[in-house]
Amino acid sequence: MRIVVRPGALVVLVGPAGSGKTTFARRHFRETEVVSSDRCRAMISDDESDMSVSGRAFELFHEILRHRLELGRVAVADSTAVTPRARAELRGLARRCGAPVVVLAFDVPLEVCLERNERRSRRVAPEVVERQFQLMRQALERIPGEGYDAWYVLDLRAQEEAEVEVLRARPGVRGGTASPWREPETRQGGDAGDDPDGRRGGLRADGIGDRGDLRPERLPGGGPGGERRAPAAGPQEGGGVHGARGGAR
Ligand SMILES: Nc1ncnc2c1ncn2[C@@H]1O[C@H](COP(=O)(O)OP(=O)(O)O)[C@@H](O)[C@H]1O
Ligand SMILES: [Mg+2]
Repeated sequence: MRIVVRPGALVVLVGPAGSGKTTFARRHFRETEVVSSDRCRAMISDDESDMSVSGRAFELFHEILRHRLELGRVAVADSTAVTPRARAELRGLARRCGAPVVVLAFDVPLEVCLERNERRSRRVAPEVVERQFQLMRQALERIPGEGYDAWYVLDLRAQEEAEVEVLRARPGVRGGTASPWREPETRQGGDAGDDPDGRRGGLRADGIGDRGDLRPERLPGGGPGGERRAPAAGPQEGGGVHGARGGAR
């Protein structure tokens, strides 16, 4: 799987605790590009797991992301984003900045999340991982209709094998306008919508619903630059599971 991140894009990681988001982000992005909600919690309370400061931490999280996007910098939102509301907030933020949005959805079996959660520095209660996992089932169904510029579902193998190409604007070029595709993308991004239920129609969702390869047709200097194919089918998992809204992001 080949993942292309456009200049100035917001990359939204979606997945339960232990699904490998932070590890993947570290491997493929610059340290300064990754904005972590856990880290924001720690920065204001000295404790990544202090949920009592989550409100403030997410204000900070969104604020840093906003600054980066306004400056045309790639920003990776490292939070679980398993609830529709959390994703809608991030979409709204990107839309206001005119930034394209890419989703990386970490589709990892519950047992693996639980086992990895045990190994990581900040451990989450197993029942919290389980709830986030259930929300993830719903997220995988909804993401194709939420209006992202691209979305990718990463299973365990894709996490290992994915190639990520991060396109960055030249220094000093605000908003990544040096990119040949930035202009139309910005306008398109205005349609992304921040409907918490993420069910608006008429949007492009060019990505992967079936863990196949994404082949963006508009690579730098090539491709027709037109509409891209919507996936033939969305992820097959999930469905019918109801979790607490807004409780885990
Ligand atoms: N691809 C992987 N293979 C093996 N272990 C992994 C992989 N990705 C993450 N881990 C391990 O799993 C634990 C949780 O990963 P992490 O990236 O912190 O997940 P998240 O940020 O989604 O909660 C860490 O100890 C990490 O080393
Ligand atoms: Mg993490």
